[in-house]
Amino acid sequence: MTGDRVIAFDRVGKTFDGGVRALDDVSIEVARGEVLVLLGLSGSGKSTLLRHVDGLQRPTSGNVAVLGEDVGRLGGGGLRALRRRVGFVFQQFHLVGSLTVLENVCTGALGTLRGPRLGLLSYPKRIRHAALERLERVGLGDQALQRADTLSGGQQQRVAVARALLQKPEILLADEPVASLDPDSAAQVMSLIAEIAEEDGLTVVCSLHQVDLALSWGHRIVGLRSGRVVLDTPVHGLSRDEAMSIYSKVGTELAPVAVS
Ligand SMILES: Nc1ncnc2c1ncn2[C@@H]1O[C@H](COP(=O)(O)OP(=O)(O)OP(=O)(O)O)[C@@H](O)[C@H]1O
Ligand SMILES: [Mg+2]
Repeated sequence: MTGDRVIAFDRVGKTFDGGVRALDDVSIEVARGEVLVLLGLSGSGKSTLLRHVDGLQRPTSGNVAVLGEDVGRLGGGGLRALRRRVGFVFQQFHLVGSLTVLENVCTGALGTLRGPRLGLLSYPKRIRHAALERLERVGLGDQALQRADTLSGGQQQRVAVARALLQKPEILLADEPVASLDPDSAAQVMSLIAEIAEEDGLTVVCSLHQVDLALSWGHRIVGLRSGRVVLDTPVHGLSRDEAMSIYSKVGTELAPVAVS
């Protein structure tokens, strides 16, 4: 893997117990600073692909290399070290509603701390400071001491982004991060992620269901169908009509398979 390439899937296959082929001969490379959007119908393998990047799942065949590590061969310690360099944001935010916003962000540092933590003051001061700084970055500094469950969905997802940023990740994985949000909040969260990627040189791999958002915020689109890559194209210069026709290739069983 060259220095500029932070993720490389080489002919990756994943077959689950029971025979479901979730990834089928997937080869993709992602460069540092790239914002890659995964499109595909439900069940096409988007989450499975993301989960291979930080070793939550291991390939049945082929090779996954991330930040210079062969993910399929990492042991427990190696995986923990890798996951400190890879942030993850989920559709359902996964905040603890009864805790303050700030403490939720602090939990992003748990991978680097020993022992359990209970209460904001149990975190080292430097972590609390860093957490507050991340919250200000996502525009929620004023809400730091509010309970997380008092925030809107869009705000909660911005807290989840701040939590993921606390560990200064080199890669941010986002699995349908805006699927539960209204269009305005969705655009806000995506623009925030894209802005941070740009400013920090962060590499982003994000699954989405909306072509418009993919076109607005992605650098490149990878389409999956039944675990196979059926398109791989830069967003630059792509018209909405072209993008929609591409999406029909992702979504329609009868459409021809096109790999660019
Ligand atoms: N742990 C698992 N065990 C068995 N089968 C699984 C497992 N995880 C995923 N699958 C199967 O693998 C295929 C791909 O699933 P995946 O969750 O990656 O799809 P997806 O594109 O993320 O879908 P969605 O848009 O609904 O989130 C599906 O057929 C799914 O049922
Ligand atoms: Mg999924």
